[in-house]
Amino acid sequence: MQRREFLNSLGFGIGASLLAPSAVLAQSSSTDVGVSTVRAGDWKGLRKLFPLTHDYIQLSTFLLASHPKPVADAIEKHRRAFDENPSDYWHENFLTIDSDISNSAAQYMGGKGENIALTDSTTMGLGMVYSGLKLQAGDEILQTVHDHYSTDMSLAHRANRSGVKIRRIALYDDPVNVSVEDVIARLKGAINRDTRVFAATWVHSSTGVKLPIREMANEIERINKSRKSAQQILFCVDGVHGFGIENQDVSELGCDFFIAGTHKWIFGPRGTGVIWGNDKAWAQTEAVIPSFSASYDVWMGRASPEQVPVGEHMSPGGFHSFEHRWALPEAFKLHLQLGKENVEKRIHQLNQQTKSGLAKMSHVTLYTPQSSALSSGLVCFDVEGIDPETVVKRMHKKGIIMSSTPYRTIYARFAPSLLNNEQEIETALAEIRAMA
Ligand SMILES: Cc1ncc(COP(=O)(O)O)c(C=O)c1O
Repeated sequence: MQRREFLNSLGFGIGASLLAPSAVLAQSSSTDVGVSTVRAGDWKGLRKLFPLTHDYIQLSTFLLASHPKPVADAIEKHRRAFDENPSDYWHENFLTIDSDISNSAAQYMGGKGENIALTDSTTMGLGMVYSGLKLQAGDEILQTVHDHYSTDMSLAHRANRSGVKIRRIALYDDPVNVSVEDVIARLKGAINRDTRVFAATWVHSSTGVKLPIREMANEIERINKSRKSAQQILFCVDGVHGFGIENQDVSELGCDFFIAGTHKWIFGPRGTGVIWGNDKAWAQTEAVIPSFSASYDVWMGRASPEQVPVGEHMSPGGFHSFEHRWALPEAFKLHLQLGKENVEKRIHQLNQQTKSGLAKMSHVTLYTPQSSALSSGLVCFDVEGIDPETVVKRMHKKGIIMSSTPYRTIYARFAPSLLNNEQEIETALAEIRAMA
């Protein structure tokens, strides 16, 4: 309320004080979106919620979500309300909506809503965390050669600004034969006295390997036990390609920071993402972009920093494409309706089918491990004698949309998802078989 008074005093809040916040929030609740629910594990019903064209078999939907009906309806409702009366609509909702969104994220991903910051993408989250970590010149961030451009460049920018050292290690050489023991041994061998942060990626979009984050966290915990608190290592994970697949409570995964976009596997609005951090991790991080949350009241001298939930304080402020951000809870609700266990089982089943099929083709080299423990929703491979980009183009001509990995070493890549079925996988496999 104090903030509203302040904003009113600046002339931002005309009309806002006429509205009772609880009544308005009830109006803005996005549960009344019509026939847009789905039963647990109903994959055919789920597919019907997407306007995704049936002209193609879509084996790259993870890249950027098509909005399912409940998400699209909520976006449309917010958009309309903003277009009709942006000032009032914002004032009616801004005081509580971010914490509502973070709480809905926590219901899906685990942890506490107050520990979740809202971002626009994985990249923004990585940039915020790696820019904000409190480190001294000479401290080392250890990362891997398997990370995405967005991790690499967030770290490179940080190093250029601050004298923090970056070192890269390979956790495996041959992805298809990756093993937990080897990953742990390499991690243990690479950490040195200066290492303060270990940056890694849960599921590698370069190879499809899913890292054993829990076991890696256990190793880091062991090392931390022998260190003073100022020398302890923070474990930061780009989790975007396990999020929306693995039935995992993120707060129990073992990492200190978990960063993900919510516009890929989660089917959230394009331009949304989250950062979850435990209390220790947030305590070692400065905000980079001022938040438009209760932190504003601290600036006004009306609240103390301790009164502001850390996730809100760390959520980049300024006005956003609010109709997208505010519709994010619908995506979490949809996943919870489907059932996290069912989602994990289904995506792994379709990926297993894909890998088993490819493994039988003598002209195909598979790079993603067969083991479900070490892979998730991405399958990387090569077709003998055909470069990956040509594979992608030829498949497109056959009505199948897939991708190649956007890394220095390029592979062909399938991403079987909840929007595919067994028949589609067989059709795609048949086209790869025909390339022999
Ligand atoms: C592992 C990984 N991290 C980050 C990104 C970037 O994600 P965003 O578009 O949400 O910034 C990608 C892109 O797909 C990715 O594969």
